[in-house]
Amino acid sequence: MLKSTLIRAAEAGAAVMQRYFQGEFIISNKEGINNLVTEADHASEKAIFEIIKADYPDHYLLSEEAGEIVTDSTYKWIIDPIDGTVNFAHGLPLCCVSIALEQDGEMILGAVYNPFIKEFFFAQRGYGATLNDKKIAVSAGTSVATSCLVTGFPYTYLDQPNGPLEVFSRLIHGGVPVRRLGSAAMDLCWVAAGRFVGFYELKLQAWDSAAGFLIVEEAGGRVSDFTGGRYSPYQPHIIATNGKIHDELADVVNGRHASF
Ligand code: IPD
Ligand code: CA
Ligand code: CA
Repeated sequence: MLKSTLIRAAEAGAAVMQRYFQGEFIISNKEGINNLVTEADHASEKAIFEIIKADYPDHYLLSEEAGEIVTDSTYKWIIDPIDGTVNFAHGLPLCCVSIALEQDGEMILGAVYNPFIKEFFFAQRGYGATLNDKKIAVSAGTSVATSCLVTGFPYTYLDQPNGPLEVFSRLIHGGVPVRRLGSAAMDLCWVAAGRFVGFYELKLQAWDSAAGFLIVEEAGGRVSDFTGGRYSPYQPHIIATNGKIHDELADVVNGRHASF
């Protein structure tokens, strides 16, 4: 039942995205000049909430636009009604719904659905990860130098040592292809599917990464904070890789790699 609720909730959010996509909708700003929220984000969130609340009215909800609906349930749904809102608002089909279910502090289910390219990623802890019901696995790459990587940039730039452009610049100067899709949930799923060998980002929220985190782990990859320690979606830093390049990419991100 939990799995069916998750899938139906992701489908409901995605149906709302499709209804609004490339049409007319209201766009407003959150903090930061291009941190957008659209009418579709709110409508997708509402559709997702309706499904979850109908099945599990007492579960805890954490969602980007509505914030937290706190209950004493051990189950928490972590929801991004549209990940990649800037893409969505500009008619770019690189955006998705991301929903994870945490139980007693552990992610047990995750779904990331991009209806425009018809990709539904799913994982259940201990059962592997799938793309459109077919098993997926991370890539076999063994070095940063030969990897295709992906990253993202925060809406408000972080001017700090080892900041987003500094790390990006190191890799680009070293000739490593680094892509920027604009959806952290998709970035993670595309690592899980073996398209990218690794992903790093400096400032994510729980709803950006919770589902993708489980999907990467279940596809055989590794996800950590910048120290290499066990990942928590409640802190901002993420490195997600096929496992084999993980420590090396952490060295690049932390500015202690000999070549980058
Ligand atoms: C954003 C995307 C983007 C990441 C930003 C997130 P949103 O989420 O995941 O890739 O770089 O930090 O805020 O705002 O589109 O849901
Ligand atoms: Ca997001
Ligand atoms: Ca969002």
